[in-house]
Amino acid sequence: MEVIRLKGGKPLKGEVTVGGAKNAALPIFAATLLTDEPCVLENVPDLSDIRSMAEIIRYLGAEVEKTGAHSYRIHAKKIGTRAPYELVRKMRASICLLGPIVARMRKAEISYPGGCVIGPRPIDLHIKGLKKLNCDVREQGGYIHVDASRIQGDELFLGGRQGSTVTGTENILMAAVLTPGVTVIDSAACEPEVEDLCNMLVKMGAKIEGIGSHRLVIEGVKKLNGVTHSVIPDRIEAGTYLIAAIMTKGDITVHGARARDLTAFIDKLEEAGQPVQIEGENTLRIRATHSSLRPVDIITLPHPGFPTDLQAQMCALMAQTPGLSIITERVYPNRFMHVPELQRMGADIAIEGPSAIIKGDRRLSGAPVMASDLRASAALILAGLAADTGETWVQRIYHLDRGYETLDKKFQILGADIERLDASAMPKELQGEE
Ligand code: EPU
Repeated sequence: MEVIRLKGGKPLKGEVTVGGAKNAALPIFAATLLTDEPCVLENVPDLSDIRSMAEIIRYLGAEVEKTGAHSYRIHAKKIGTRAPYELVRKMRASICLLGPIVARMRKAEISYPGGCVIGPRPIDLHIKGLKKLNCDVREQGGYIHVDASRIQGDELFLGGRQGSTVTGTENILMAAVLTPGVTVIDSAACEPEVEDLCNMLVKMGAKIEGIGSHRLVIEGVKKLNGVTHSVIPDRIEAGTYLIAAIMTKGDITVHGARARDLTAFIDKLEEAGQPVQIEGENTLRIRATHSSLRPVDIITLPHPGFPTDLQAQMCALMAQTPGLSIITERVYPNRFMHVPELQRMGADIAIEGPSAIIKGDRRLSGAPVMASDLRASAALILAGLAADTGETWVQRIYHLDRGYETLDKKFQILGADIERLDASAMPKELQGEE
């Protein structure tokens, strides 16, 4: 077990390059099961979630070879139909294997992914979509059993109470590319990660119209071919560094930050009084102009709205921005596990239903804290970097390692006093209950 120790108060300065997007890479790994030809994937982030996905598709029968620090060769000559609980439970995103297995094998048996700390994460829309494609879906013993022997394209609406579903759209899309007839997905998710998957599928020979929109029209084909595909850069990692620049009154240039993927986020920073410099198609820079920062109200929504995966980090920023701001979660109304830990660092935040009411006049100070999920971990590190007194120790950083590749090292290069240590190095009196 490892912990992160950091001391804040230093302005972070320099250049940083973000890795490939975890949430694009995961369904892209699943999509390699759609063909019996080899696929080469590049710009894959080196993360524990990716390793879990590689393990599952290997279990399903694919040859998975890590050919470089960020590249893989995957050859799914033959695949099985069963994804068992002991593998699926490690990572919710393994649900996006459902679409490819159904498409290729015309049947699938996949364990329910189970609960999650950020709130209930049902998969009713995935199932609704498959049923609309004439699949027979049975839920039994914690498994979803799909008989897709009569699968057929159709028109379907995939919106739910919280709007579109990212992995739900990806599943139905991946099922539809090899399904006879035309499938129309209305209220499809249009996140850049869904778009990246679509672009890869088109290179494999899939026929998809409406890429990047809320209406995808897919004409099924008989076979897909192998592909070489480079994963898009991670917009959430990029946003995390940009927030770090503001919170530490620094100056950070982020390569792999695509303004077009971050419009709602950039708009909010500018509303807060912080200009974002667009230095090219893939580069954004923030030179902090702290004196003029204003509080803003934020509502998280499916893309192109403000991303829920940057909500925790924005809570940390607003916690040190004078005035009152309200951050409302419309995607995961309970995703506020970071709040009690930010409070321990001095933040004044109250939760009212799906909203965090933040009084930002407090100074943040270092404290021992416990990471509860991936984005919460990032928010705690940001708060620690901004704290001008005390030391911060972050426990349970395996959450961080699911989605950020060497975040601590990248912050170190930007000038942060941060290090990863064995848990035994943490003073006993600071340790929380594991
Ligand atoms: N929903 C349903 N029914 C469904 C599916 C979803 O009601 O069948 C609800 C969810 O409960 C939620 C909302 O719809 O309230 C959106 O969920 P979505 O299905 O879009 O989320 P997801 O596909 O499970 C992906 C990302 C998440 C990210 C969300 C929202 C991957 C692997 N995961 O999850 O990433 O927060 O979209 O953008 O793509 C993260 O990286 O930290 C993370 C949690």
